[in-house]
Amino acid sequence: MEAAKKQEALYEEKAAGSIGSAPAEAGRQGEIVIAGLGKVYASKKNRFEALAGIDLTIGANEFVTIVGPSGCGKSTLLRIVAGLDDLTEGSVRLDGDEVVGPGAERGMVFQGYTLFPWLTVRENIEYGPKLKGVSTLERRAISSHFLKVIRLEQFANAYPKQLSGGMKQRVAIARALANRPKVLLMDEPFGALDAQTKLEMQEMLLEVWEKEKTTVLFITHDIEEAIFLSRRVVVMGANPGRILKAFDVKLPAQRTQEVRELPAFLSLKRELGALLKH
Ligand SMILES: Nc1ncnc2c1ncn2[C@@H]1O[C@H](COP(=O)(O)OP(=O)(O)OP(=O)(O)O)[C@@H](O)[C@H]1O
Ligand SMILES: [Mg+2]
Repeated sequence: MEAAKKQEALYEEKAAGSIGSAPAEAGRQGEIVIAGLGKVYASKKNRFEALAGIDLTIGANEFVTIVGPSGCGKSTLLRIVAGLDDLTEGSVRLDGDEVVGPGAERGMVFQGYTLFPWLTVRENIEYGPKLKGVSTLERRAISSHFLKVIRLEQFANAYPKQLSGGMKQRVAIARALANRPKVLLMDEPFGALDAQTKLEMQEMLLEVWEKEKTTVLFITHDIEEAIFLSRRVVVMGANPGRILKAFDVKLPAQRTQEVRELPAFLSLKRELGALLKH
């Protein structure tokens, strides 16, 4: 587990050093095509089929959420898309290019707080661009922009330990976005937050998504969160990890808290709940 944590914290470092990690800004798209993906964890004694036959296309600028029982392989799938884990079968393509490792065109946000404690909020946000050799002046402009997006301008010079959990996750999102990724990969980013903060974060994320035009692949345990945020909800099952069903979310594009009361929201919530019980 510790190894995974370290890997996550250093995602940008790997991404910046990878081949073809030029800024993704030009002609930004972000279509992910997962085809026939399988993953087997094998040791001398055991062979565990974590994922099998995963086919999933996420359109450029789409917001897709994956839900499923604990241990069904959600994180494994996301880590493969991020390039942090190898697949055993099939392929993952981003705008036609096969994913073979971490890349700056994919930004990651994890559940655990992965900010560098020795860097200020602004320095954390500028970390990726700095690795890529972006000039000080330009870095400043990037961090100022994203500090505004996450509404933490007053905390530019604060250190992570001075922030609340929600604020830390806002910085983590800004840090991922500072690399101008085509795709944002989020593994239960709000899982550790209290209910009220979670709602605020969801609204902020939707704002960011509309403004920055990234593709988002989001994992959560929370069915309501999945429906509220996404345009499509994909349900996974376990043993082996596979896709059970995908649902289009037929709700107004403008998500206000009121959509949670709409019949379409409630019936989808029921349907997902029933599917996840099995
Ligand atoms: N490095 C590994 N070696 C062996 N098995 C692993 C490894 N990593 C994950 N697994 C197994 O693969 C399965 C899927 O794990 P994964 O973390 O992807 O599940 P998850 O759906 O994200 O669960 P959760 O909702 O609890 O986060 C689990 O059964 C887990 O034990
Ligand atoms: Mg997980």
